[in-house]
Amino acid sequence: MATTQTATTGSTLQEMAKRHLWMHFTRMAAFAEAEVPVIVRGEGCYVYDEHGKRYLDGLSALFCVNVGHGRADIAQAGAEQAKELGFFTNWSYAHPPAIELAARVASLAPGDLNRVFFTSGGSEAVESALKLCRQYHGLRGKPRKHKVIAREIAYHGTSLGALSATGITDLRLPFEPLTPGGCHVPNTNTYRLPFGMTEAQLAETIAERIEFEGPDTVAAVILEPVQNSGGCFTPPEGYFPRVREICDEYDVLLISDEVICAWGRLGEWFGCQRYDYQPDIVTTAKGLTSAYAPMGAVIFSDRIAEPFLEGSGSFTHGFTFGGHPISAAVAMANLDVFEREGILENVRANEAALRTTLESLRDLPIVGDVRGAGYFQALELVRDKETKETFNHDEAETLLRGFLSGELYRRGLICRADDRGDPVIQLSPPLIAGPEQFAEIESILRAVLEEAGQRMHVHTH
Ligand SMILES: Cc1ncc(COP(=O)(O)O)c(C=O)c1O
Repeated sequence: MATTQTATTGSTLQEMAKRHLWMHFTRMAAFAEAEVPVIVRGEGCYVYDEHGKRYLDGLSALFCVNVGHGRADIAQAGAEQAKELGFFTNWSYAHPPAIELAARVASLAPGDLNRVFFTSGGSEAVESALKLCRQYHGLRGKPRKHKVIAREIAYHGTSLGALSATGITDLRLPFEPLTPGGCHVPNTNTYRLPFGMTEAQLAETIAERIEFEGPDTVAAVILEPVQNSGGCFTPPEGYFPRVREICDEYDVLLISDEVICAWGRLGEWFGCQRYDYQPDIVTTAKGLTSAYAPMGAVIFSDRIAEPFLEGSGSFTHGFTFGGHPISAAVAMANLDVFEREGILENVRANEAALRTTLESLRDLPIVGDVRGAGYFQALELVRDKETKETFNHDEAETLLRGFLSGELYRRGLICRADDRGDPVIQLSPPLIAGPEQFAEIESILRAVLEEAGQRMHVHTH
């Protein structure tokens, strides 16, 4: 080990974090002067930093602590499982927690999504789904079907296969060449539709791209029910039913990437249920365990399983920790909480109130749009509300990183200020949140966005 201070020689968490902890997607240089935010404890909708200061967790950490922080019952379920069987693998073996969870997930998933392949997280779930599609087509005598169609600005994970589906140029460029086959079509940003395009034409761009690529080369279409990146793009009326038709027409599998949108985020077990479409595959993670343990899953149909079930066939893919018994036990306890406490019902009962609260911020000149579904909402920030003029790159940098992110945190609200598309603030509170938290979100956002508008000289009409 490098000769450096460690906990045993009395260095502080701050010093050790700066010296040793390589944070994800983080500009490490920003912490040369500034403090690393060190979160030490959580309870319900709130978390506390190392100084004891309280924050409203308006992002469920990273769209994942769906039932809220500090649940002793979920922790207990993990501890008990660790005592009974801390680990065994799903490579040719099974154990009760993975079996019971697979059956429970299948019973909640719509239609014939009866097969559950566990992973350690969302990128692994997407990676696995893409490989499943390729092998499925290959087994059916269509080995050229390998491409995946995704949407611009969508985030589907960071491993090289998943990254080829991710449609964010800045995340892709440093790692090119990626796994071949990623193709992108317009997303459902109806606030800024592509020039000359109607909402009804958005789904058709998928059919056009399949034709362009050659239907014999396209394996799958991957879409989130509500697209996170870019700021909670909801699908226009009729979008998903039309996508389903297109996929059937071209023998292309439909993957619903529900790493965020499942487990109550949209008020249903699965996001596809909210928009009434039947995917061939659901990829999920995050809220499956409410993030009390890492876990993801690929949930797929009996139809896809069929060619793998003959003779010596197998899905030649796996991860050591897929279906980890502690994670599976934690997921079961998490789903118990959902059922016992009516978590989906809480989202359904309160989503209109959350939305009304956020809509009330439209009087601020900087708030151009409010959109989303369930407990998954975004505000788009604009320079001019009437013309929808956005901020240029440098302005967005000043606005988001120079002011908003730090100021919201300083005032005790964790949410996301993001510019992977146009600048947005995203909110995705724990699904136990209610009017008290919404009021807190509103009052902090109002003060901070008012000041942001003044600093950026936003047009007032
Ligand atoms: C839709 C979607 N897919 C995939 C991923 C990747 O998941 P993970 O970060 O668990 O690898 C994410 C992460 O936020 C996501 O939102």
